[in-house]
Amino acid sequence: MTDRYAVMGHPIAHSRSPRIHALFAAQTGQDMSYEAVDVEPGHFPEAVAEFRGAGGRGLNVTVPYKQQAWTLSERRSERAQRAGAVNTLVLDPAELFGDNTDGAGLVRDLTGNHGLALDGRRVLLVGAGGAARGVLEPLLAQGPRRLVIANRTPGRAVELAGAFRGLGPVEGCGFADLQDRRFDLIINATAAGLAGEVPPLPGHVAAEGAWCYDMMYGAGPTAFVAWAREHGVAHAVDGLGMLVEQAAESFRLWRGVEPDTAPVIETLRSELRREA
Ligand code: ATR
Repeated sequence: MTDRYAVMGHPIAHSRSPRIHALFAAQTGQDMSYEAVDVEPGHFPEAVAEFRGAGGRGLNVTVPYKQQAWTLSERRSERAQRAGAVNTLVLDPAELFGDNTDGAGLVRDLTGNHGLALDGRRVLLVGAGGAARGVLEPLLAQGPRRLVIANRTPGRAVELAGAFRGLGPVEGCGFADLQDRRFDLIINATAAGLAGEVPPLPGHVAAEGAWCYDMMYGAGPTAFVAWAREHGVAHAVDGLGMLVEQAAESFRLWRGVEPDTAPVIETLRSELRREA
């Protein structure tokens, strides 16, 4: 019988997840379906119960339900526990297991696809919302020399850093505190790009040879990637690879098989360009 999976969120129409998982399933010969379910606010727990009751095997969860998915989970992976958010549910009949594959997806894209080693590097994480929180533990596990969280509302960055202090050299601050600082990797985890905006970072914050990584992606360069290039950053990339890698991590968890992500990233990139 075909195993059923889905992604739930609101809105969900533009989700690439059904396409990504269809490509993984075809590539690995898995008998599974994957649909997008738009869940009206206030109805997430029922939607999960209904899908599970109908024999659904697993779910991806996206905005705005990742925190609710965390609460619903009867058991959580350590990384999901710390992230305070769940993007992957395993709908085992015995228990609802929650994981968070976002941070692993980011790290795999940076280190595997882009060949960037993070140990000993100075890392700047811009933003202190759910997207930043979700990737902190896997980033710290890579052994950066320092990880600074900078946010428009500095208090949120300080608080977030405090919650992860035991895991590595992490500190929080505001943008004004970055004046004299340089970083080897700058990751944009803010929602500024949704409005075509860029966080007000000092232009010299990127060290010689630095990388800029936008967790958002688009058909053309994102606002943050464009900003990085304008400031002479040679390696500025968007988050399409992270999207595919976090999906691959969910796929592995559900199916126990490893999809090859490179051709899937390539296919999505050319489809994005064609749609533009
Ligand atoms: P998410 O789950 O996507 O991270 P969030 O919790 O609403 O969503 O957080 C959004 C992040 O983007 C926050 O760090 C926010 O900064 P504040 O904490 O000061 O609100 C940041 N953000 C949104 N718009 C921004 C902008 N125009 N410039 C800089 N930061 C912005």
